[in-house]
Amino acid sequence: MGSPHPNVSDHLVLGLETSCDETAAAVVRGDGAVLAEALVSQIDDHAPYGGVVPEIAARAHLEHADVLVAEAMRRAGVGFGDLTAVAATGGPGLIGGVIVGTMTAKAIAIAHGLPYLAVNHLEGHALSPRLTAPDVAPVAFPYLLLLVSGGHCQILSVRGVGDYRRLGATIDDALGEAFDKTAKLLGLGFPGGPAVQNAATTGDAKRFALPRPLAGRAGCDFSFSGLKTAVRQTLEKQAQPVDDQTKHDIAASFQAAAVATVLDRTRNGWAMATADGAHHTALVCAGGVAANTALRVGLNGLAADLGCPLVVPETRLCTDNAQMIAWAAIERLARDPNDHDSLGFKPRPRWPLDPNAAPMAFAGAKA
Ligand code: KG4
Ligand code: ZN
Repeated sequence: MGSPHPNVSDHLVLGLETSCDETAAAVVRGDGAVLAEALVSQIDDHAPYGGVVPEIAARAHLEHADVLVAEAMRRAGVGFGDLTAVAATGGPGLIGGVIVGTMTAKAIAIAHGLPYLAVNHLEGHALSPRLTAPDVAPVAFPYLLLLVSGGHCQILSVRGVGDYRRLGATIDDALGEAFDKTAKLLGLGFPGGPAVQNAATTGDAKRFALPRPLAGRAGCDFSFSGLKTAVRQTLEKQAQPVDDQTKHDIAASFQAAAVATVLDRTRNGWAMATADGAHHTALVCAGGVAANTALRVGLNGLAADLGCPLVVPETRLCTDNAQMIAWAAIERLARDPNDHDSLGFKPRPRWPLDPNAAPMAFAGAKA
């Protein structure tokens, strides 16, 4: 029995991810086998500041990139001569980190005579649900992707490798950012998503009626800054100091409002994607916020309603990682073996996936 993977190929790619607060290197094979990944998260470095500090991130990437490449290669049990290409996130992201990853990958490419690919971080997320084990058939094109992380919040119709139509995006904050800012306001710690989710488990989601921005409106754009402001105002109206139960009730109310908004927007996104009769095979959710249980439960219900499967990659593939970067390179090479980038590639802090989509302040950049 061969692999059910459509991409089965002899490729063996080293991928690097350095665009935000995770430094990671992975070795992935053309049939979807992940031979190794080495990853260092900078959560502890940024926690005192309640958010990612670009300069601290850049220094950490510089410190860890080489070590993690060596570690991933060692664990994979391969040498540079065995690789068929080296890939690194070329943007969008925090420029210091993107430069570190790009320079590291280019140096390896030059030293070992390997093709180099600059991968769009968003393309990594978009294709991540197709990185399945060799014996598991991946989701087929086209599918609808809800990409929700700390830096990105958009809905894309993923038509094929290199063919992405952005249907909607946030006009202000990303969803993960809204979770992080809410956690900061409530003093719950960093990263905020898991902290808010945790607090919400013992909170009353009905105690505070928070706004569901853009819900009921046409299109599938997002807006979360009004919801964040409502959280702040609700908090200020409480007797000070605010007791823990009230904080948990606010967390639960925030989460309920955020999820309801996302479901409303995603339902519209599905209608937009399929309006011209284009059959979409699945609803896919990726990005760090895909780890949120309330969101998963809601999306499950929505997918059942729409009559389509819901695909959520494992959490380690949803959050930033190097496997998806190596995999995106493999998908590109499977489509066109000569799809290499020039060593003159300049890192791109902003790099929208869909060049035809109207520019939006936060659609292709990490805030
Ligand atoms: O994809 P990711 O690791 O990095 C970015 O590209 O941003 O996503 C991190 C984001 C953070 O905002 C974090 O708070 C959020 O994902 N997150 C969650 C949960 N786990 C992580 N948000 C809500 N609920 C969670 N369980
Ligand atoms: Zn990301």
